Amino acid sequence: MGHDGDCFLVPGPVRMNQSCLDALSTPVITARGTEYRDVMAKLNSGLRYAFNLSPSSPERKNQSWTGSDGYKVIVVSGSGTAAMEMVMANRFRPNDRVLVPTNGKFGERVAEMGSRFCNVKNLKYEWGRAFDFGEIEEQLARGNWEALAICHNETSSGITQDAAELAEMCQRHNVAFILDGITSVGGLPVHPEQWGAEAVVVGAQKCTAGPSGIAAIAVNQHFIDRCNAIRNQGDSNSVYYLDILPALKKGDDDQTPWTPAINPAMGWAAALETLKEEGLENRWNRCASLAKGVRNLFTDLGFDLLADEYYRSSTVTAIMYPEGIDDSWRTKLKDDYNTQVIGAQDHLKGKMFRVGSMGETPVEEMIEGCNRMIACFKECGLELPDVDVKKYFE
Ligand SMILES: Cc1ncc(COP(=O)(O)O)c(C=O)c1O
Repeated sequence: MGHDGDCFLVPGPVRMNQSCLDALSTPVITARGTEYRDVMAKLNSGLRYAFNLSPSSPERKNQSWTGSDGYKVIVVSGSGTAAMEMVMANRFRPNDRVLVPTNGKFGERVAEMGSRFCNVKNLKYEWGRAFDFGEIEEQLARGNWEALAICHNETSSGITQDAAELAEMCQRHNVAFILDGITSVGGLPVHPEQWGAEAVVVGAQKCTAGPSGIAAIAVNQHFIDRCNAIRNQGDSNSVYYLDILPALKKGDDDQTPWTPAINPAMGWAAALETLKEEGLENRWNRCASLAKGVRNLFTDLGFDLLADEYYRSSTVTAIMYPEGIDDSWRTKLKDDYNTQVIGAQDHLKGKMFRVGSMGETPVEEMIEGCNRMIACFKECGLELPDVDVKKYFE
């Protein structure tokens, strides 16, 4: 079976399935009634599954947001950035020292945003280069750090950090481990409990194939204790809408402090149901196999990939344009081949493109999309060897 119609191969927002779209168009309900609490319970339980946390009941009045591992999930009305800001603003005092190694745009954003709320040291590596673990270890060993915060899967450069290794370092040096998991949670292995992560953030529109504008955080008890202690000491950053304490008060009751994003929550809960039907590990594996196919195909075709070999992401692949090709190729691909990939950011703009392999993308769509990309490159004058695209995805 082939794939007809458009190929939408961007690293988020991804296509939403029909059950998610149907849920999004549910007639309005009130924010504080039992119907919405039912939605929250289902959403919380689905989120715990996506975060790879212990299960919880999807029924209202059953502490759907927590489980035997002690983590709690908090739904945030806003995109992933809002959820990340909620973490940084509430967890740290202005003088807390936080180490943020980065190798792309979103890590740098963690550092930039974090510096509004705490004392950030940004260890900047070139986009796509793996972190220097020796340097991070050396920094942590000097002591006096409150946390290490990373962008786990760097969507801008197609690199995934070795979170297990970094988690061990954090445990050795007794610092908190915070992850922007916006394009990793639901799409590649994430183990909050095993890593002792204090907070992990996810955005709905990425690997879980939900709607844009809603996000969530998984936090452990130590995180909660620190947020409370900092507030009691009177040494906290200014927050109001993103104050985590009211959100923590409302959680047991399947509620949020402000009017929730009601329909997006319904849509996301439906998308998470689809994730559960597929199985979390099956989704990780499907994303990994799509990304592997894209990597091997384009490498065989003679393209260079941006990210260091052993750290290449399973949910996004960053591919350099060869000599003579620029973003006009992407415009042509969209206009003439009904296929969308995404361009690059900042200094790499016009120099590379990125292919998303997250959400529910079927293999047939990826094969068709790759065939169209190759045809479009050839039409743009690039000489490429003949390849059997399908073979790369078997
Ligand atoms: C890794 C990562 N972090 C953060 C963001 C920002 O998330 P949002 O646009 O949902 O605020 C993105 C968006 O692409 C991302 O990929």
